[in-house]
Amino acid sequence: MSSAVVEARGVGLVLPGAEGHPLTILNDVSFTLGAGEVGAVVGPSGSGKTSLLMILAGLERPTSGSVRIAGTDLAGMDEDKLAIFRRRKLGILFQNFHLVPSMTALENVALTLEIADPTRSWTSVETEALAALDAVGLSARAGHRPSALSGGEQQRVGLARAMVAKPPLLLADEPTGNLDQETGAKVVSLMFDLARRNGTAILLVTHDPALAAKADRRFAMSLGVLAEDIPA
Ligand SMILES: Nc1ncnc2c1ncn2[C@@H]1O[C@H](COP(=O)(O)OP(=O)(O)OP(=O)(O)O)[C@@H](O)[C@H]1O
Ligand SMILES: [Mg+2]
Repeated sequence: MSSAVVEARGVGLVLPGAEGHPLTILNDVSFTLGAGEVGAVVGPSGSGKTSLLMILAGLERPTSGSVRIAGTDLAGMDEDKLAIFRRRKLGILFQNFHLVPSMTALENVALTLEIADPTRSWTSVETEALAALDAVGLSARAGHRPSALSGGEQQRVGLARAMVAKPPLLLADEPTGNLDQETGAKVVSLMFDLARRNGTAILLVTHDPALAAKADRRFAMSLGVLAEDIPA
């Protein structure tokens, strides 16, 4: 038995392209990530970074190879099981996973906990959600809807939402993409702190070399091929 949180073996993604030419998006991607490890993926636009995260989140099926997350093989799961898997095992910080506009910051974070365990009392959910908002420095904004928060504040609520259930794995796609450098650095150090505290492994995609430098391990994606950068 391996204790890896992520185990990707020979993952390929080939999609039907124009004029019947198949398009190789991911080519034989293999890597593992241990508990609490932070991995950063860099690489040019269109190289397959988001596609890899989608597969690891069970939001897209690979056309070859296998993915195990926290000991579970994703191939054996139907859509319902994958949805449960995501709620229990994953924190997801993608740019298209927006906050619910009609809900306050507190309600957005609480929703993760309510979905994970609908039998919990509101008092215990509220306490934990507030603590998560406090950890990202936003307890004073708990009652605000997303439209009344700045971009960086929304990103921090998203981070609180992704981390509140202390998942074994956080997948983050350009978590600082829309933020100024200072706010971005703040969100990242929060993310790393929360992960260290909870033993959460992180795989993050970034175009920011300074952010990649802070990770435990660095991977480069090029034309669908993932290689680990081993420091000399
Ligand atoms: N559903 C799809 N159908 C066909 N091609 C797709 C699909 N999704 C992604 N692609 C293609 O797969 C390749 C990889 O896309 P992906 O989004 O993974 O790149 P990326 O590395 O995340 O790029 P960026 O840095 O711009 O976000 C691109 O050439 C893209 O056009
Ligand atoms: Mg992308």
